[in-house]
Amino acid sequence: MFNIIDGKKISADMRKSIKAEAEGYRRKYRREVGLAVVMVGENPASAIYVRNKIKACEEVGIKSFAFYLPATVSQADLEQLVAGLAADENVDGILVQLPLPQHISGSKVLSLIPTAKDVDGFSAENMGNLAMGEKCLVACTPNGIMQMLKALGIAVKGKRAVVVGRSNVVGKPMALLLLNADATVTVCHSKTENLKDECLKADILVAAVGKPKFITADMVKESAVVIDVGMNRDEEGKLCGDVDFENVKEKCSYITPVPGGVGPMTITMLMYNTLQAALFRR
Ligand code: GUN
Repeated sequence: MFNIIDGKKISADMRKSIKAEAEGYRRKYRREVGLAVVMVGENPASAIYVRNKIKACEEVGIKSFAFYLPATVSQADLEQLVAGLAADENVDGILVQLPLPQHISGSKVLSLIPTAKDVDGFSAENMGNLAMGEKCLVACTPNGIMQMLKALGIAVKGKRAVVVGRSNVVGKPMALLLLNADATVTVCHSKTENLKDECLKADILVAAVGKPKFITADMVKESAVVIDVGMNRDEEGKLCGDVDFENVKEKCSYITPVPGGVGPMTITMLMYNTLQAALFRR
């Protein structure tokens, strides 16, 4: 019997407790937790993400500062804005929505975000601290997956976890989080030989490859927990994940759907990280 993981429900429960904590913070320190969101240009997907981030702030009682800059903004002007936010006492977290236009050096802009305000957890220092098992701000999607496993009481310790995908924003931090939680971790990628055999060993399989229905039933061990980070379109233009859900689900103990699985957790974890950033500053 498989269980479909309800990311919306876990996310909603988390938002309630984040809201209560943000309110407690406001009362104790007589100031609101603040998140600055910077968007450059008019990428439609980015616009939806940014809108949802601002809405989430309203929902949990975090003050948002939104900055919409034209695609033609200069490197110097964008840097000046981010440097100002870095120094602003009212701002606990800074998020620069990616991708940035071609003429902008993203790494230069992101390097201006102080580690303590890096609520995306993308900086080398936060990634390094994660690798060292130190307290840090952790990338939202993998951190959300850990919270999901925790909420469901799914044990990680001693389990074999296989992460398919090695991106800096999902695959690598996911592997580190699972390792820090005492799993035996394998990271697979496009050059991995015998991918199917590696995946078949997984008690917990995380798919973050960005290819529709890439993980098929023959790659999944009986009773595995399957986490799908993918957000793709299938041949018919329908939203689908990296996992062939309909055929894989029968083999799983737990599986995340797309949509409604990992996705809802990501923005909730941004709220969580912003609150953490505010608390770390105290
Ligand atoms: N663009 C798509 N996802 C993300 C994200 O998680 N953070 C940022 N900064 N940009 C994104």
